[in-house]
Amino acid sequence: MDLKEFLEKRKSCRKYEDRELTSQVLDKVKKLLEVENEKALKHNVEYKLYGDSIYNGLEGVGGYSGVMIKSPNYITMNYKVKDKESLIYGAYYLEEIVGELSQMGLGTCWITLFGVDEEIKSKTFGTQDKIDFVLAFGYPESKPTFEIDEYSARHGIEDFVYFEDFDTPCTVEQLYSYGIDEIFYYIKNAPSAYNSQPWRFLIKGGNIYLYIEDFKGDANYTDSGIVMYYYTKMAELSSIDATWHLDDAPEVETNFKYIGSTNF
Ligand SMILES: Cc1cc2nc3c(=O)[nH]c(=O)nc-3n(C[C@H](O)[C@H](O)[C@H](O)COP(=O)(O)O)c2cc1C
Repeated sequence: MDLKEFLEKRKSCRKYEDRELTSQVLDKVKKLLEVENEKALKHNVEYKLYGDSIYNGLEGVGGYSGVMIKSPNYITMNYKVKDKESLIYGAYYLEEIVGELSQMGLGTCWITLFGVDEEIKSKTFGTQDKIDFVLAFGYPESKPTFEIDEYSARHGIEDFVYFEDFDTPCTVEQLYSYGIDEIFYYIKNAPSAYNSQPWRFLIKGGNIYLYIEDFKGDANYTDSGIVMYYYTKMAELSSIDATWHLDDAPEVETNFKYIGSTNF
């Protein structure tokens, strides 16, 4: 499946078969984590693989309103140092892991642990590392064939891309003239906590600036990292070598929270 198709079909999986990964697949996952850890550790993040024991430790407390998702496997995102950079790039590479797992036929779901006591976390994971998110993954439970897949709703482009200032929504025609209409058409499918889709992009003077509307803290840095990852990957398809900078905010009047900038 190519990236565009993946983004159109990407969907969280909340029901898994009660089945272990084959040892071949498990080896592939371990190798994948080695590769991703090499990149993520530069930003003080490390991913670790766990089995189904995690569920018992987090039942009733992990996930939205304590609705923990049961799966045979989990990947934790461990912050060695927790700051803007580790939150963003931890999410960036965890979403890369999501894509790779999907290529192996595995479903995934991000799980938030904000409501969970630090003591419960350290007991469950056996580490003092800070962990705010885990990824559930495994073989998706197959649905009866008559059940139609429902996709979570997403914004239109003019709801999250702006031109020169935040009073001026960008039109598809403008994006087309820059050759970046497809990038935004597809990245709107990026997942976000509570599906809040808080990202706002400003195109100005040859740069693209990422902001967050109604910034609520760490979960929004995570949402940022995910959409930054998809921007970079989609840009690659248009032969754009996009690099993100977590630099200082440009002079733009807005209440939105500035995250970083990139090229197109
Ligand atoms: C940072 C983050 C945290 C999330 N936490 C949870 C969670 O705790 N429980 C859950 O069921 N889904 C969680 N999700 C999944 C989102 O709700 C889901 O991606 C979003 O609603 C879009 O739906 P889709 O993935 O099916 O397209 C999380 C997603 C992200 C990106």
